[in-house]
Amino acid sequence: MFPTLFLFLSLAIVAIGTPLRPGFYSETCPEAEFIVRDVIKKAMARETRSAASVMRLQFHDCLVNGCDGSVLLDDTPNMLGEKLALSNIDSLRSFEVIDEVKEALENTCPGVVSCADIVIMVARDAVVLSGGPNWEVKLGRLDSLTASQEDSNDIMPSPRANATTLIDLFRRFNLSVKDLVALSGSHSIGKGRCFSIVFRLYNQSGTGRPDPAIEPKFRKKLDKLCPLGGDGNVTGKLRCNPGEIR
Ligand SMILES: *[C@@H]1O[C@H](CO)[C@@H](O)[C@H](O)[C@H]1NC(C)=O
Ligand SMILES: *[C@@H]1O[C@H](CO)[C@@H](O)[C@H](O)[C@H]1NC(C)=O
Ligand SMILES: *[C@@H]1O[C@H](CO)[C@@H](O)[C@H](O)[C@H]1NC(C)=O
Ligand SMILES: *[C@@H]1O[C@H](CO)[C@@H](O)[C@H](O)[C@H]1NC(C)=O
Repeated sequence: MFPTLFLFLSLAIVAIGTPLRPGFYSETCPEAEFIVRDVIKKAMARETRSAASVMRLQFHDCLVNGCDGSVLLDDTPNMLGEKLALSNIDSLRSFEVIDEVKEALENTCPGVVSCADIVIMVARDAVVLSGGPNWEVKLGRLDSLTASQEDSNDIMPSPRANATTLIDLFRRFNLSVKDLVALSGSHSIGKGRCFSIVFRLYNQSGTGRPDPAIEPKFRKKLDKLCPLGGDGNVTGKLRCNPGEIR
């Protein structure tokens, strides 16, 4: 009993002290990255939007107490998790894709690949399969056993946050303005709900007026899709003409 426990503890300590690195699973689960890509490819064939949805999981997991898979945990009687936090409720999605990846990995190499690493791999693959850039991911994260709705609510920025607030928040995480622009740009795929933009359409910064920076013709289309007092969950296809972008 004692030696087993000791070994377990030593391994845990080693794991905690081990820096993340590319190819972390090359010995223990060499096919891991192929399996992940295969599952997300199939998920995207079923529903294109899942690419954007799994990318979003990465940021929402990582910003709240690190990239530890905590965003995947359901509430328990003793713990309010992050799934129902303000930034995630009715909007964070494609958890089933992570489940499918985990199941495929468990079938090949049980108990090896962490869910925290799955979130990182699947986000990268979603970008690549959407025609974006490729990058090597560092792996070796451990999964959190707890999650905090309160921390998510405290940390995640409001969809109404202004640039100053967002730049300051990113700086706290040692992320640059360039990182913020990249993260904002990643929202150019996927779908957004009316809930996220109605304040810009009808009450920008509490002025009771629309955001003057939205091009009027484009705003008209948005007004039609997202009327004041309408269903905040609505998403829709809108294309702005080149002349409407400024
Ligand atoms: C940005 O938002 C913060 C927090 O709501 C506010 O204190 C600040 O004045 C705003 N800055 C600008 C430039 O609007
Ligand atoms: C913050 O970023 C700078 C520049 O990228 C880097 O040199 C530094 O090590 C980072 N600090 C932390 C605490 O991550
Ligand atoms: C607009 O926002 C301000 C500040 O948040 C709020 O006091 C006001 O009631 C809002 N107006 C409407 C019409 O929602
Ligand atoms: C979105 O729909 C859910 C139920 O599916 C509802 O609980 C929630 O209030 C709706 N959100 C908005 C912003 O309308």
